[in-house]
Amino acid sequence: MLTTIKTRRSVRQYKEIIPKNADIKKILEAGRWAPSGLNNQPWRFLIVKNKGVINAISEFTKYSKVIKGAPVLILVFLDLKASYNRDKDLMAIGASIQNMLLMAHSLKLGACWLGEILNKKEDVRKFLKLDKNLELMAVISLGYPVKKKLKSNRKPLQALLINSALPLF
Ligand SMILES: Cc1cc2nc3c(=O)[nH]c(=O)nc-3n(C[C@H](O)[C@H](O)[C@H](O)COP(=O)(O)O)c2cc1C
Repeated sequence: MLTTIKTRRSVRQYKEIIPKNADIKKILEAGRWAPSGLNNQPWRFLIVKNKGVINAISEFTKYSKVIKGAPVLILVFLDLKASYNRDKDLMAIGASIQNMLLMAHSLKLGACWLGEILNKKEDVRKFLKLDKNLELMAVISLGYPVKKKLKSNRKPLQALLINSALPLF
């Protein structure tokens, strides 16, 4: 598990090969089985493969190159009708997205969590002619990665641990 978590990278360049529907379905299954407060499962998914639509969506973010080059997009929405606590619903949707990224990685697909597009989330919703109750949370770009050594780093654990005056152990 830790190897999968640590070797996952944000992949922003893809081959032109279209991922298999069976793999997309597995990724959605991983998203669907995320935990949520009261098990309310507030996430909703929209799959886009149509090139014209992908190109149009790409215009709503400065990361348009990433979106344009992706054969598949998974748009993740919060269903405001299913929402019971905004903070907790947002966290649950984050868990769902991370599940999908990890599943994609374990299928040797590459994905990127795109958040900048949220600056135009209403424009995206209107362009797609979706109900007002669907609030865009992220776009996941998906495809087979162009072979490249992708690097990332993290703060050391020591920098993440909070000190307390209480004896905790
Ligand atoms: C909430 C969120 C929003 C993000 N938005 C973008 C984005 O708009 N464009 C982008 O290229 N990457 C985006 N990323 C990916 C991050 O840049 C990436 O996860 C981070 O740099 C760590 O790299 P890694 O995923 O390869 O470990 C986003 C990630 C998260 C969690």
